[in-house]
Amino acid sequence: MKLISNLLRKTLLYIKNHKALKNIIYDVINVDEFTDFYSHERMLADSRRVNSYKIAIDKYIKEGDTVIDLGTGTGILSFLAAKQKPKKIYAIDQSKFIEVAERIAKHNKIENIEFVYKNSRQFNLAEKADVIVQEQMGLILFEENMLTNILDLKKRVLKKNGLILPGKFSFFVEPAFISGINTPPFIYEQKIHGIDFSFLKQEYASSIFKKQKNDLNYQTTTAFKYFLCNPEPIITFDLNTINTEKEIKTSYNITKEVTKEGFSNGFIIYFNAIFDAENILSTAPDLNETSWERMFFRTEKRHYNIGDKINFSLTMENLVDRSTWSLMVKN
Ligand SMILES: C[S@@+](CC[C@H](N)C(=O)[O-])C[C@H]1O[C@@H](n2cnc3c(N)ncnc32)[C@H](O)[C@@H]1O
Repeated sequence: MKLISNLLRKTLLYIKNHKALKNIIYDVINVDEFTDFYSHERMLADSRRVNSYKIAIDKYIKEGDTVIDLGTGTGILSFLAAKQKPKKIYAIDQSKFIEVAERIAKHNKIENIEFVYKNSRQFNLAEKADVIVQEQMGLILFEENMLTNILDLKKRVLKKNGLILPGKFSFFVEPAFISGINTPPFIYEQKIHGIDFSFLKQEYASSIFKKQKNDLNYQTTTAFKYFLCNPEPIITFDLNTINTEKEIKTSYNITKEVTKEGFSNGFIIYFNAIFDAENILSTAPDLNETSWERMFFRTEKRHYNIGDKINFSLTMENLVDRSTWSLMVKN
């Protein structure tokens, strides 16, 4: 038994550190993720999302361009791009849902699109593309493998001066106060009708009854109350200028100054996709909701005064896998 578990451990460690294998496993696990109408219905109905893309496509895709739509889904971005009269659009998707996109194109008599049913990393193109349009942003920005997929296509099939739309992103992890049933106090912080749970604090961190290692929870916008500090991105990067994922640091020590007196019970995660200075698609919790739900690192509830400092560390062992992320408040 010990031999088998050692062997399994070694194999998993090997996979974890092997980029190509990691990607294959990631794809196998996620290939069915966008095969249902509901997930596409949410994205289509997200008018902030669709309008940002429409404005950017109208501005940056030119007549005669060769365009790649990575992860076409319903084909919506290709259909918007087709209005610009490009030379050709390659609409790629690894999901069999692509057959629905093809039927929508046919029904709406939209031509000039070649639908390619494969993973983008298996896609080749003799002529190079002028633009890659993409919507590969996950709830925590990185989890749909955006960096790997886009940087791979950029290297192999995008012209040297080609454009990734959107390419620029900023990523935020902000101390906040969230109320609502999805962000309950930790059990040891609760006192219900005089029943005391506080003794559970000692064993909480190592308890087998703790479901999530890092307490990263899903949250809905309505539960967000306020930020404690002025929001500043932790990471800003531009896929148009970087060439490898390694250019993005995965470990941070951050100090923020409190600008609003109040309680914090965690850190909210969101991102901006920056098409340009006038066109930013933001999932910030103080704006109207989008199809991206926010994620939240739950921490013990604590009161802060204006001018207090919040020191915390964020480690993202594997950017695409939020279960490997951890956040620790240090003061
Ligand atoms: C968030 S959806 C976006 C769909 C559509 N572009 C839109 O804006 O509504 C991402 C799509 O990318 C596809 N996808 C993810 N990784 C891919 C890859 N490496 N190659 C091809 N398709 C991929 C998924 O199957 C999914 O349909």
